[in-house]
Amino acid sequence: MDVIVDLQYGDCGKGKVAHFLCQNEKYTHVLRYNGGCNAGHTIFHKGKKFITHHIPAGVFFGVRSIIGSGCVLDPKQFFREIKILEDGGVSTKGKIFIAENTHVITNAHKGEDKQKGGKIGTTGRGNGPAYRDKYGRTGVRARDVKRLKPYLVNLYKEWYTPARPLRSRRVKILAEGAQGFGLDIDWGDYPYVTSSHCTTAGALLNGLPPSSIRNVWGVAKIYETYVGSKKFQPKGEVFDKIGDAGEEYGATTGRRRQCNWMNMQTLERAIQMNGVTDIVFNKIDVLRTIGEWAVIDKNKVVPFKTEKAMKDFVSKRLKTLGLSPRRIHFSESKENI
Ligand code: IMP
Ligand code: MG
Repeated sequence: MDVIVDLQYGDCGKGKVAHFLCQNEKYTHVLRYNGGCNAGHTIFHKGKKFITHHIPAGVFFGVRSIIGSGCVLDPKQFFREIKILEDGGVSTKGKIFIAENTHVITNAHKGEDKQKGGKIGTTGRGNGPAYRDKYGRTGVRARDVKRLKPYLVNLYKEWYTPARPLRSRRVKILAEGAQGFGLDIDWGDYPYVTSSHCTTAGALLNGLPPSSIRNVWGVAKIYETYVGSKKFQPKGEVFDKIGDAGEEYGATTGRRRQCNWMNMQTLERAIQMNGVTDIVFNKIDVLRTIGEWAVIDKNKVVPFKTEKAMKDFVSKRLKTLGLSPRRIHFSESKENI
């Protein structure tokens, strides 16, 4: 299994990495492993822009795509997305599945989140209340919803039957996370977090053993963005410029994302705790457009004269964490990796 994990606050371009890996590797499955339709993946496929919330990127390549037991699912949104994909020329028939033990987001969950989610600045999609009911043992599972029956799979059978070790060639999974390390329920800035496990560990919660992990693709942006209620963006025109140049609006709610320089300590922690083997820094072109380069290191802004100086600084630091330069990729917004 390869895992894609966001190292910041979501919106770092996981969809793009998933798209790239699906083109280059022969996966048998793509698994969405956490979160609900609070996520928004923007994918450019055959010249068309698609925004998916529930459905994993594998569907664009005809790979069996599964919404895992670590997720929560809004059936209405699920069917809406299937229609959008079909209308856009992407065939979904026999390609999209839901783990039968995935929990369901109900209308009551959405209503409650819209009413009470303001303090955290949630997406209002019912994510928090659905996870609360899951852990409170009062939730509804996908297998209890009649309309979902044609899509259900049992993950045990999916991964292991007929009896085989998961590492056999017959199962090769790309596990796609949602949100990001800074929004993780345990490691993010609580309570300004989401309600699921956004880490590599979250992928394992879908019936997968630690030994099945091969590569962990960490995805970051060359600056940081965050959407939600806490104050995140410092004073300074430069951050508005970054937001404008990067078109930083949420794919799910359309809210303006707050911007800041990339924080080296947040990044280092995320790399270590997620066991990152390969890293992609997206949106390099945005800082090029505004002509300023900087990171935050040990609570201080460290500016750089050139793009190269910043890349060298970051690469050198990551080398101390065991990441070799050939596994560090700097990428532009619309460029492939
Ligand atoms: P919730 O996940 O809707 O409960 O929202 C909790 C926090 O996570 C809020 O600050 C949201 O803006 C943020 N959030 C949730 N999903 C995403 C995402 O996919 N990208 C970025 N931020 C997200
Ligand atoms: Mg997103």
